[in-house]
Amino acid sequence: MKNQNEPKTVAESAVEMRFLVMPNDTNPQNSIFGGVVMSWIDMAAAMVAERHSNRPVVTVHVDDISFKAPMKIGDHALIQASINYVGKTSMLVGVKVIAENPFTGITRHTTTAYLAFVALDDIGRPIQIRGLIPETDDEKRRYQDGQERIEDMKKNKKR
Ligand SMILES: CC(C)(COP(=O)(O)OP(=O)(O)OC[C@H]1O[C@@H](n2cnc3c(N)ncnc32)[C@H](O)[C@@H]1OP(=O)(O)O)[C@@H](O)C(=O)NCCC(=O)NCCS
Repeated sequence: MKNQNEPKTVAESAVEMRFLVMPNDTNPQNSIFGGVVMSWIDMAAAMVAERHSNRPVVTVHVDDISFKAPMKIGDHALIQASINYVGKTSMLVGVKVIAENPFTGITRHTTTAYLAFVALDDIGRPIQIRGLIPETDDEKRRYQDGQERIEDMKKNKKR
């Protein structure tokens, strides 16, 4: 394992999970219940934050979650989560949810969300975390956007 102060790349903590949409995941309209998707998002994002910091983490803010298209029973839900930005003790993780019809192979981007986490020390206080090395053009763009997004979250918290 890396030394706690050594920065990590985005790829080193990225998480990808797949779920099969089952009848008990749906709402009365027979499409997926939003709370189920939010739970998958929070879980995937928390694992990214834990893998980046190698510390226990808590969710402090969920920002800008939008549901763009429904998911149906039998769809495969692909959850892609990666770290966008790190502060001193906080991390911003971006999550994309894609629905795949396993019989046609057709995919749809259904949900995007951004979540902030704080890493905790052994007695539950925020602890400083390692830096992040954005490598690709997309990662560099997300890092810039993430910095602005987390500043906005902090301003909203003060309000
Ligand atoms: C995590 C916790 C200990 C942090 O305490 P705190 O008093 O807010 O600590 P700080 O003010 O020092 O903030 C710590 C970091 O979080 C960031 N932060 C805090 N609240 C935030 C918010 N709403 N949005 C974005 N960032 C936030 C701060 O900017 C700071 O970032 P930095 O160190 O990278 O600059 C406390 O907020 C807490 O226990 N929250 C409950 C978490 C929880 O139970 N989550 C649900 C289940 S996982």
